[in-house]
Amino acid sequence: MAKWIRSSHRWVAMTFLVIVIVNMAAFAINQAQPWLYYLPLPFLFWLMLTGLYMFVQPYLLRRRSGGAT
Ligand code: HEM
Repeated sequence: MAKWIRSSHRWVAMTFLVIVIVNMAAFAINQAQPWLYYLPLPFLFWLMLTGLYMFVQPYLLRRRSGGAT
């Protein structure tokens, strides 16, 4: 399995968390920014793609090797 997919999922997840927390802090002090509000979305989209890739990988491998289960 492509290792860089997993590590990019890991690091983008951490970046995503930081952006979400900064966002919540900005809202809490009434300093919400429209650009900051939408900034997590591209990161979430990347997480979705790499996450789904990691999810289907074991099933694809099993099928390719002709396993019974
Ligand atoms: C949006 C859809 C997402 C999908 C479909 C998804 C799916 C997955 C899958 C299948 C794995 C591998 C689990 C395994 O080891 O078998 C994984 C790992 C992981 N996910 Fe996600 N994920 C998503 C979003 C997120 C988000 C939003 C976060 C956190 C902000 C996150 C953080 C992580 C982390 C830290 C790992 C462990 C990576 C590693 O170091 O191996 N994921 N995810």
